[in-house]
Amino acid sequence: MSFIVAIDGPAGTGKGTVTEILAKKFNLLNIDTGATYRCVTLEMLNKGIKLEELDKIKDLLETIQIDIKIEKGKQLVFLNGEDVTEKIRSKEVSEIVSQVSSIKEVRLKMVSLQRKMAEGKDVIMEGRDIGTYVFPTADVKIYLDADLEERAKRRFTQNREKGINMSYIEVLENIKRRDENDKSKELGALKVAKDADVIDTTSISIREVVNEISEIIKKKKIDIKLQKKIYKPRKENAWKKFVRKAIKTILAGLYKISFRVKITGQVPSEGAYIICSNHINYLDAAAIVLFNKRKVNFVAKEDLFYHRILFWLGHLFDAIPIKRDMQDIDAMKRCLKVLKNGELLGIFPEGTRKGMEKNMKAKNGAAFMAIRSNVKVIPVGIHGTFKPFSKVYVNYGEPIDVSKYSKEQLDEATETIMNQIVMLTKKED
Ligand code: DC
Repeated sequence: MSFIVAIDGPAGTGKGTVTEILAKKFNLLNIDTGATYRCVTLEMLNKGIKLEELDKIKDLLETIQIDIKIEKGKQLVFLNGEDVTEKIRSKEVSEIVSQVSSIKEVRLKMVSLQRKMAEGKDVIMEGRDIGTYVFPTADVKIYLDADLEERAKRRFTQNREKGINMSYIEVLENIKRRDENDKSKELGALKVAKDADVIDTTSISIREVVNEISEIIKKKKIDIKLQKKIYKPRKENAWKKFVRKAIKTILAGLYKISFRVKITGQVPSEGAYIICSNHINYLDAAAIVLFNKRKVNFVAKEDLFYHRILFWLGHLFDAIPIKRDMQDIDAMKRCLKVLKNGELLGIFPEGTRKGMEKNMKAKNGAAFMAIRSNVKVIPVGIHGTFKPFSKVYVNYGEPIDVSKYSKEQLDEATETIMNQIVMLTKKED
């Protein structure tokens, strides 16, 4: 899997410089997407094609060859085999590049080229729409911003160093026009991605910007490593079974010292079932797992696995990590596999603690899997204050058959399960 860093923002925010440094620091392929639009613009100027000559532009797009290469740490841009690294920064190109990049056909072609350039590689991509359109699932998304005057000042100095002859006012007007145009594009408009980190570079140095982004990249890399570990199920073996049994005995003992556990009803000694319980405390899942003769594979929110001990316990008891803010297909597959293997699956349909109290709609996942796998649901009502030495009631109900519901009636099936759970929470002996 490739690692993608998206750096978006308007002209003059330091994107180019920052991207170049980060590319070297993290060994990422640096792709300047603006350069691809500049190449199309240069080729149009070379061939005398005007903005409104769409047919000619389409023809040009058919044959244009754009390459970005890194030589001696420097990014070089090639247009049809010619090194145009300097030429694409000219005043003439800068004047109309934003309009060229607004042409739908140009955008589609360039976006597809940019995606191809990044295929299977670890990249840092700089542009306007990388985090929102080109790679909406990029691992890191940064949006750099800065005051207009500051950006114009920077670009003016940069141009002078490169020998590009534009006055400060010309640069300012050009950036202003491009900003407006870039933000109002029909496709791939410049905007902040919802999940981007925004950094205002007006009064901070390049080094500070690089440091800030470096921290974000490092944290993401650690997260990815951890995620891999979390989602890799541990194989079952005799040693794991032995450790699980020992830990279960110790924890069950501690649990009984801490609370007076009252259990009614039971789980059939074999066969696949989904155990659905209300969720009132962090310790209620433990009451189900520890006082069950059989192993209960509980679905647990991914965040719990970030805790070292819970990570270890989660893997020992084959808990299934789930991402709560999205449809987690992988977690769903693991749940279905548990049922297929004739095991017990534990789920809190409330999705979160005290979901019912908070008036939240119960989740349909358990009902969906019960119907799909044709297994029964065992409702459980837990109640208690979970204060030290208080009573904790764990009431198992009769298995519920939800097979009469279709996949279109998940709400009704869930309601049936929840009604039973609620009834069982009221039972005290
Ligand atoms: O980053 P730059 O100034 O070289 O970009 C040149 C133009 O290309 C800019 O005005 C907007 C456009 N562009 C775009 O529309 N989408 C991108 N991903 C990158 C640049």
